[in-house]
Amino acid sequence: MKIILLGAPGAGKGTVAKLLTDYDGSVQISTGDILRAAVRAGSDLGKEAKGFMDRGDLVPDNLIMKIMESRLQEPDCRKGFILDGFPRTIPQAEELKNLLSKLGIKLDMVVNLDVPREIILDRLTTRRTCSNPDCQEIYNIKTKPASPDGKCLKCGSSVVQRDDETEEAITYRLETYNKKTAPLAFYYEKESLLKNFLSISSTDTVEAVKKALNR
Ligand code: AP5
Repeated sequence: MKIILLGAPGAGKGTVAKLLTDYDGSVQISTGDILRAAVRAGSDLGKEAKGFMDRGDLVPDNLIMKIMESRLQEPDCRKGFILDGFPRTIPQAEELKNLLSKLGIKLDMVVNLDVPREIILDRLTTRRTCSNPDCQEIYNIKTKPASPDGKCLKCGSSVVQRDDETEEAITYRLETYNKKTAPLAFYYEKESLLKNFLSISSTDTVEAVKKALNR
């Protein structure tokens, strides 16, 4: 499959993307994960991105496009990809459109995860993430806890709260989403690619996406 996952912070994009990769081996490409890995590695990209990320702001489009231009041309993308957290702005969507047309790739669908705001706020404050960059399993202290001593059930590394999960940063991320990313739903509706999914249960959403892809 070649799809984009849209949705507010905490809508469950990462959770749904991980479940979808099991379906047909398509790769999950999360710009958030790539940037967090760059911050941990202390690379130039990480140093430039950290400030924006910690306060809940978007990283500049030119940095994101540089990452995605090379990432989408890696061999593992040939089988299919799930774009998680990209594009985030209209300019990114326009540049992605040009890039895909240059590479001869056609998107199957843009999946918009629609989740009520009170559920989103609850999910973001209770999320925990595996600190191992090669694992990054997503947990939730209420719905999907890690081990009692805070270790990842998959790889045994510590499970931590992200730096952008302060109340202030969460509020700012949601505002940024409404201003800059929510308009992408209209953009992709006009391109006849948008499908909206009320996403309360991630497994139900994954089944609905699979059904829509096979239609
Ligand atoms: P990014 O990592 O993309 O963060 P985000 O969009 O804010 O999304 P999240 O990862 O917070 O949430 P999610 O929707 O993946 O939800 P999850 O599955 O974890 O980006 C981080 C930062 O990087 C940005 O702020 C920006 O600075 C920068 N950035 C990234 N991409 C960029 C771009 N393209 N352009 C510019 N800047 C960019 O689920 C959340 C929680 O809920 C978890 O605990 C999970 O277990 C739980 N949960 C999920 N689904 C369910 C369910 N159905 N029932 C119960 N619990 C659930």
